[in-house]
Amino acid sequence: PTPIILDCDPGHDDVFAIWLAAGSPEIDLRAITTVGGNGRLSHTTYNARVVTELAGITGVPISPGAASPLVRRLTPAEGIHGDNALGGPDLPAPSVAADPRTAIELIRDTLDQAEQEVTIVATGPLTNVAMFVRAYEDRLSRVREVVWMGGSTGRGNITPYAEFNSWTDPEAAAIVLESGVPFTMIGLNVTHQALVTPDVLARIGAIGNRTAAFGVELLSFFNTAYEADQGMPAGPLHDPVAVALVAAPGVVGTVRARLDIELHGTETAGATSVDLTGTLRRPPNARVGAGIDVEEFWRMVEAAIRTLA
Ligand code: BDR
Ligand code: CA
Repeated sequence: PTPIILDCDPGHDDVFAIWLAAGSPEIDLRAITTVGGNGRLSHTTYNARVVTELAGITGVPISPGAASPLVRRLTPAEGIHGDNALGGPDLPAPSVAADPRTAIELIRDTLDQAEQEVTIVATGPLTNVAMFVRAYEDRLSRVREVVWMGGSTGRGNITPYAEFNSWTDPEAAAIVLESGVPFTMIGLNVTHQALVTPDVLARIGAIGNRTAAFGVELLSFFNTAYEADQGMPAGPLHDPVAVALVAAPGVVGTVRARLDIELHGTETAGATSVDLTGTLRRPPNARVGAGIDVEEFWRMVEAAIRTLA
């Protein structure tokens, strides 16, 4: 199995990223780090602890990282995820504490202890990963790849041109992209195909374990919020798509392209400029998600949840 560190901001779809990573035989989830994004860091860290314990996931340390973006102010996505970043179900109080190390210390130690290179899957703003890149340049060769849910080859969701994770901390995204670590972006152009349809909800509900029941409560809230906020009755479950790519590379199609993050635009900050046609004549610097086998994706999510509590 591929060893990964999951850097996330749970968040409804981040929860499914955690569960897919923990429940996939092709993945060895070594550590979880949390970042301010969908909610404040206190909430995203608490939520990560709740949903790992609820799903019976043990032995995976969880460390909090950055509370706010490198330069900008955090604006939590309350319209989609609620006041605590995980609206819907009652959250059972977790009994396992967060790891005493900071996120970047946990990333460092996880890389140092691994017998091979480790993939970082990031499903929130890239603040922690950028701080790691700056603090531990000597460890970057230990990172096999950063796979990020963020950006888009087309339009955005928080502004016309920017996706939420990219818009929240574009400076961090640019730092990670420029670090030279292999970088894969799974953007809205792909994740907007992973829709939580009534059929998907029914399939997850039919699994019948505690994790699935909690998951259905999450997804019901998520769909209601997506309809109210974005006019989409079936919400797109973005984050697990990045995990699916690592678990089964054939599930998500990618192309190599030049990727740049807009840092200065007055209306376009955080937009991801993806040169799919080679117009700029600059060498590709990233892999970019281009397509998804939706049926296989949901089969993987379902199979992973079946292995949990
Ligand atoms: C991304 O933003 C967050 O709201 C989701 O968790 C996902 O990571 C989608 O734009
Ligand atoms: Ca997220």
